[in-house]
Formats: sequence, C-alpha cells, structure tokens
Amino acid sequence: MSLQNFLASLDSLQSEALATFDSASDAEAFEAARVKYVGQKKGALKDILKQMGSVAADDRKSAGMRLNEVKQAISVAVASAEKRLGGKSDDGSDLTFDPSLPGVRPTVGHVHPITQTITHLTEIMGRMGFEAAEGPEVEDPWHNFVALNIPEDHPARDPLDNFYLATAKAAAGTEKGNAEKRNVEGTHLLRSQTSTVQIRVMENRQPPIRIISLGRVYRPDDPDATHFPMFHQMEGLLVDEHVTMANLKTVLRVFATNYLGGDVEIRFRPSFFPFTEPSVEVDFLWDGTWIEFGGAGMVDPNVFRSVGYDPEKVSGFAFGLGVERLCMRRHGIKDIRDLYSGDMRFLSQF
Ligand code: FA5
Repeated sequence: MSLQNFLASLDSLQSEALATFDSASDAEAFEAARVKYVGQKKGALKDILKQMGSVAADDRKSAGMRLNEVKQAISVAVASAEKRLGGKSDDGSDLTFDPSLPGVRPTVGHVHPITQTITHLTEIMGRMGFEAAEGPEVEDPWHNFVALNIPEDHPARDPLDNFYLATAKAAAGTEKGNAEKRNVEGTHLLRSQTSTVQIRVMENRQPPIRIISLGRVYRPDDPDATHFPMFHQMEGLLVDEHVTMANLKTVLRVFATNYLGGDVEIRFRPSFFPFTEPSVEVDFLWDGTWIEFGGAGMVDPNVFRSVGYDPEKVSGFAFGLGVERLCMRRHGIKDIRDLYSGDMRFLSQF
C-alpha cells in the first residue's frame, strides 16, 4: 500500500471514530463503538496496524508516527465518551465492572490459637468436673504471695522477678526493710502465677472444691523459644476429704492423654513450691526431649490455714501448667514468640 493511501485510511478512520464516540448517547452505543474501533480482536485500529506491513520500508516511519497520533486521538475520544456517560450503563450498572473476573474474598478474622487452646482445655477439664474460675490480673501481695506461704524474704518476691506497679518503690531493693514496706503499703503487681485464684476461690467457698483457672500471668523473663514475659497458665485446685497424690497424678494423666494423645509420656519429678508439700514438676516427652509443662503438689497446710480451712479435715491438690507450651506441643510450634508476633501468615494456619 502506498504511503498516501495508508495516511488517507488513517484520516478517515480517525474522523469516523471520533464522530462515533462523540455521538454515542448510551452505554450500548459506546460499547459497540469501543468494540468496532479499539476492540482487541477485530478493532479497526488493529486492522490498520496490520496493513502497515504493506507500506514501503522507507515510508514506515512517517506511517507509524501518524498511526500513533490517531491512536492517541481515539483514546481521548473513548475517555471523554466514558466520562460523559458517567461510567454507567442505562440500567445503572458500572461499565468498568467485569462480572467474569474472580472476586476478592473478604478477610475474616478468627480466634487466636491460645484462645482456642483455652477453650479446649476448659472443655477437657469440664468433663472431669472442674469448673472455670477467674481472678484479677493486677494482684495484691496477699493473694500472689503471703496466702500462698511465700514469705516476705522469699526470692520469688524479688522486684527483678515481678512487675510491681509502683516500680520506683520496688526497685529500692529486696532487703527485709524494703520488703516490709512494700507489704505494708500493699504494692500491687501483675500476677506472676494463677495460683492467686486458688486463694480467691477458697476465701469465698467451702470444700469440696474442684476448679480450674486459665488466664494471663506476667514475669520479666527474656523472650526466647520457650519463654515470654506474658504467658498463660492453667491452674487446677481440688479440695475434699482424703485427697491423695494418686488423684493428682491420675487427673494430670487423663488430661494429658486427652489433649495430646495416647502416645504422650508424662514424668513427675520431685520439686519444691512454698504452697504445696510434697511438690512435683510435670514433664511431657516431646520430640525425644523432656519438657517442663508445670508444677503441682498437695496443698500445703499453711495455705489451708490462711484461708480458714482446717488442714486436719481437708486435703487437696493443685497444679499450674503453661498454656503456650501445651498449645506448642499439640501443634508442633517451635517458638513461643510466633504466637505473639501478630504475623497473619503464621496465625492463619490455626
Ligand atoms: C508456677 O507458676 C506454680 N504456680 C505452678 C504450681 C501451681 C505449682 C500449683 C504447684 C501447685 P512455674 O514457675 O514452674 O510454677 O511455672 C509453671 C509453668 O509455666 C512452667 O512449667 C512453664 O510451662 C510455664 N512458664 C513459666 N515461665 C514461662 C514463660 N516466661 N513463658 C512461657 N511459659 C512459662
């Protein structure tokens, strides 16, 4: 095709297309014009582009330049017609909406794995008759220490091991004088264990008692794969007549097999807690390694006395297990920090 003929076809295409877009009075006319002139498959612009191949090589540069001008002019006409017609068709639907494209799925949140674990543990213990009880996260020294047989000079009360709320006073030291002052002034702290709830329940009820308490506790521990400064514990307390260590071991065994499966191995190691005597550490075998999940023991007579129970008449057991470690064992989570990273790629797996 000669250059002259090619340019003439371009001119007539441009004037025809511009007139058609200008006069399009509704969405249907606009869409027909769009398909006719700029359609991807059979549009007139596509056709004329193919014809450029038959223009002599020397003339192709000027043919191309003019073709670009025409393209530009037509795309301006398309945009202005679209704008004039308000981007809407006669029936009000959006012209730019393509119903054949896949939809965008809305993000729906779900319950955090630790909250799921709390629900699960509460349900297992509920089947063994343990009722859920709660206590405050900001505690006084009586419930966090004194009533639990933890004397004022006990290292567990060290300011470096607790989040006291009056930090300036707490930082004054651990020697007796300061410890007494803390106690007299009743410096509150973020509870370091859920054993506080044992006291709160026993202060308000008479035996028999069979409760669990699941909640947050706080310790200034450096975060690593198995430690976090805020974590959860499941406390258990059973008080009645003639309760024995065998009852404690049975309850923990039944709990562990229910939550972790029949193949779990449990070990009870002699230990010490001021509020239980005798005391044990409870370990579960995980990936060939024994991991400590919590502490347990028979309620110390001094604890019974502090809540007004007669240790000659009642006996009981108590335990406190780390909820994160249980959740990690069940789901194969290797690092406790993943649970609190807020990373949706991790959390959405549960
Ligand atoms: C206690 O807190 C006792 N109150 C448990 C107890 C209750 C004993 C009733 C006797 C009778 P311990 O400090 O060992 O014990 O903590 C219990 C469990 O909490 C640990 O075994 C561990 O599973 C978990 N834990 C402790 N510190 C952390 C931490 N920084 N991050 C995550 N889990 C922790």
